[in-house]
Amino acid sequence: MSAKRKIGVLISGRGSNLKSLIEACADANFPAEVVLVISNVAGAGGLTHAANAGIPTKVIPHKAYASREAFDAAIDAALSDAGVELVCEAGFMRIHSASFVRKWQGRIINIHPSLLPAFKGTHVHEQAIAAGVKTSGCTVHFVAAEVDSGPIIAQSAVPVLVGDTPETLATRVLEEEHKLYPLALKRVIEGKVRFDSP
Ligand code: GRF
Repeated sequence: MSAKRKIGVLISGRGSNLKSLIEACADANFPAEVVLVISNVAGAGGLTHAANAGIPTKVIPHKAYASREAFDAAIDAALSDAGVELVCEAGFMRIHSASFVRKWQGRIINIHPSLLPAFKGTHVHEQAIAAGVKTSGCTVHFVAAEVDSGPIIAQSAVPVLVGDTPETLATRVLEEEHKLYPLALKRVIEGKVRFDSP
């Protein structure tokens, strides 16, 4: 089988989706390997998952940079130095500059805990419960200039149950996220979905 594609993962926190990607990559037949994990937050839980798997990590604190562009340039340099071919955002809580998004277009994907285009942004499960929807879920999509708006790669649905709190719904959705992200990444690598530059 051909060489695994080199993946960089961007995180800001817990890193349970990172963990699911690392576990998927451990399968010899999975077409990717995580070669770098970048966090903008020092001490993010996900950094431990990476370290446990022997994956290099880098903390790039956004506050150390004067502008969004300078922060993104540091991320871009770290990704390029590591030979990253495809970027997965997994709970990364920063918005990218237009130039970064343009450069990585079609090679950067994100997971969001709702069935986009419904419930963009933060407090997603609160939004879903407040809206009274009976189904929610998660979406893996290409990153585009507008937040949570790039072309959809894959989605998975879960029921919203009577009595759900944002926490119980988040737990149900997260379980699906962990299955969906590796599947969506594989589809991108296999060329089954593409987001071409204009
Ligand atoms: C996930 O729900 C993801 O969809 C959202 O942020 C959360 C990150 O969780 N973008 P984790 O850090 O992967 O555990």
